[in-house]
Amino acid sequence: MKYHVVTYGCQMNLHESEKIAGILKEEGYLEEAPLEDADIIVFNTCCIRENAENHAFGNIGALKQLKRQKKGLIIAVGGCMVQEEGKAKLLKEKFPFIDILFGTHNLPELKTLVQKKKAQKKAVISIIEERKETEDGITPVRTSYPNAWVNITYGCNNFCSYCIVPYVRGRERSRRAEDVLREVQALVEEGYKEITLLGQNVDSYRGENGTNFAQLLDMIASLEGNFRLRFMTSHPKDFSEELVAVMKKHKKICKHLHLPVQAGNNRILKLMNRRYTREKYLEDLAILRREIPDCEVTTDLIVAFPTETEEEFQETLSLVEAADFSSAFTFIYSPRTGTKAAAMEGRISEAVAKDRITRLISLVNAKTREKSAKYVGKRVEILCEDYDEKKGMYLGRDEYGRMGYFKSEKDRIGEFVTLNITQANGISLYGEEV
Ligand code: SAH
Ligand code: SF4
Ligand code: F3S
Repeated sequence: MKYHVVTYGCQMNLHESEKIAGILKEEGYLEEAPLEDADIIVFNTCCIRENAENHAFGNIGALKQLKRQKKGLIIAVGGCMVQEEGKAKLLKEKFPFIDILFGTHNLPELKTLVQKKKAQKKAVISIIEERKETEDGITPVRTSYPNAWVNITYGCNNFCSYCIVPYVRGRERSRRAEDVLREVQALVEEGYKEITLLGQNVDSYRGENGTNFAQLLDMIASLEGNFRLRFMTSHPKDFSEELVAVMKKHKKICKHLHLPVQAGNNRILKLMNRRYTREKYLEDLAILRREIPDCEVTTDLIVAFPTETEEEFQETLSLVEAADFSSAFTFIYSPRTGTKAAAMEGRISEAVAKDRITRLISLVNAKTREKSAKYVGKRVEILCEDYDEKKGMYLGRDEYGRMGYFKSEKDRIGEFVTLNITQANGISLYGEEV
């Protein structure tokens, strides 16, 4: 029996899909297969923006035919969208052929749900409100060698006014430092070369005995072995010099900070409930760069938040200039039912939103190209993580998060490779092995 998992959304969800695969394996679905050949198909959904939901809706709808043709095919839908108020009901109405619906807190039960479905004709639906435990006892089927994702926190308590995550992922819970350390140690021993610590807001990590994030990072980076360490996401309101000191202390920690700023204007930041100002954000970056001059910073930006004026949007542009980001994810504000911002007046028209995002993207891209160009003629060390069939080249990222491509006769995945950069294109670098 074979399985297929379709994933939408963030790294957290990608990792959760690895856990879903782990559960399916235990239940006898031993092999991954293309959608058409699978005996069970699981959709792991996201609801962060409307288009993430539309994608999932479209692709689930497209399964109707397959479901009719293939007797015994099980279709399960889980993740953030299912946890959203009223969405499970809507999914069931629109797609009566769905066999299993499970919420974000119901993952550990998935095996039982599948067994239950096999025993009954009726659909199985399981969505609970909250779960306190952080250990799920699931062994993930990791698909991202040489990288491995490791959760340190679940959920979020920040309630940024635009964001649905606190509603669908529940209150913040931290894993025990001891458990995290044990997992990382085992992964390093298995040969993983890059560990990415995951949490909606890693800085608010609180382990047993009050261990904070900087301390956890310090402990993990002190483990023996040849690996590098990343983490995401950090929240500017929790930026600390203690964290910077730990990043500076350990070679293993990548000199890259993903620090979503969202907007450049203080009134908008306040409406977003982000709890920092533009000035504070820039001061923190200055501290970071004073201590670690070559540290690269990436960010997330939202345009057209309710009531955002042209002048206020221009402050996002000027912040991009001032902050010297190496790249950024850019989004048009998408109202999410149930959040504070969704009830605000002053929606920005689609035309204005599109104009703003186009201008923002072109600025971000120009900055990225400018930065990449400086790498030509220099050496970078990448961790080779994949092979690009189309380009006929191996690729990997340097510690700053830049993608480097190179040609090689033999398989290099999982090796650290030093490249002489000969060409830059957007965020990608091309080079020859030294
Ligand atoms: N916890 C992380 C990631 C949250 S989701 C953090 O705080 O940064 C990733 C990004 O999606 C956010 O940083 C934000 O830029 C964007 N985002 C979240 N909700 C959104 C919405 N309703 N509309 C548009 N973009 C949104
Ligand atoms: Fe959403 Fe804010 Fe929490 Fe990030 S910190 S998940 S943007 S509420
Ligand atoms: Fe991630 Fe989307 Fe959920 S961004 S936490 S999968 S809403």
